[in-house]
Amino acid sequence: MSLRIVRTVGDLRAEVAGWRREGHRVAVVPTMGALHAGHLSLVEAGLAAVDRVIVTLFVNPKQFNNPGDLAAYPRTEEDDARKVAGAGGHLLYAPGPAEMYPAGFATTVSVTGVSEGLCGAFRSGHFDGVSTVVAKLFLQTGADAAMFGEKDFQQLHVVRRMAADLDIPIRVIGCPTVREADGLAMSSRNGRLSTEEREIAPRLAEAMVTASARLADGDGLDRVLEEARATIVAGGFREVEYLELRAEDDLAPLARTDRPARLLAAAWLGDVRLIDNVPVPAA
Ligand code: PAJ
Repeated sequence: MSLRIVRTVGDLRAEVAGWRREGHRVAVVPTMGALHAGHLSLVEAGLAAVDRVIVTLFVNPKQFNNPGDLAAYPRTEEDDARKVAGAGGHLLYAPGPAEMYPAGFATTVSVTGVSEGLCGAFRSGHFDGVSTVVAKLFLQTGADAAMFGEKDFQQLHVVRRMAADLDIPIRVIGCPTVREADGLAMSSRNGRLSTEEREIAPRLAEAMVTASARLADGDGLDRVLEEARATIVAGGFREVEYLELRAEDDLAPLARTDRPARLLAAAWLGDVRLIDNVPVPAA
């Protein structure tokens, strides 16, 4: 079955209106393309929850704080469309920048609290860009549910907060991180790693899993984090940008594991910035 691709808000709404007349419920999977098995797991989760799944493909200029990063972002629409069709998605919405941000566009959706710290501290304006485009995608599609990866754990929290605060009637569903066989979290950025870096990359998740187990055993937080940072750098990473323990439900900083938590990290491997997170059960 060939996949329908629409590029305007008008065509998107007409398609969804047809589904609504047939009584279908709709999920949206927002992406920036360069799709991998992690993205496709969201399509599957969408199909399990509702009848019609829209994948959106838009490389959102507003969430890149580095023009070089935006220019280097992979664009593989034909391949992406094939993958969405293969996974059983029903529609690809791939607007151009002028459709999403027409001349005169002047609104920013900005979430405080959960967007501060972690990635928010190092990527200025990033989450405003994410919140703005995701609010638009929710309103453009009018979907009942939206699937997001836990891979981007802070983003999931920011989007949940935004939808609740703006009374957008959509269920934001978090889906588990899909990993390569060696534990590396799948990411569009992994393709930029050299062969040598690709061998080093899984050491981030490995160190985080070890740290999580030690915290669950009751080892002290400062010591565990310090040793994990040292292990990551000794393993070949250039720099650990952050490694922090946060509460699972509201991302509050934690000094001990007295409630379900996540370890979250960003680290540089050469010129590539990788992020990951792992659950930490209450000790
Ligand atoms: P992108 O990086 O393309 O990711 C799209 C969705 O796929 C996000 O919800 C992300 O968390 C999820 N995802 C990525 N890697 C994953 C993995 N290994 N396992 C499970 N899910 C994974 O995130 C964005 O795009 C953008 O910020 C967007 C939300 C589309 C707004 O522009």
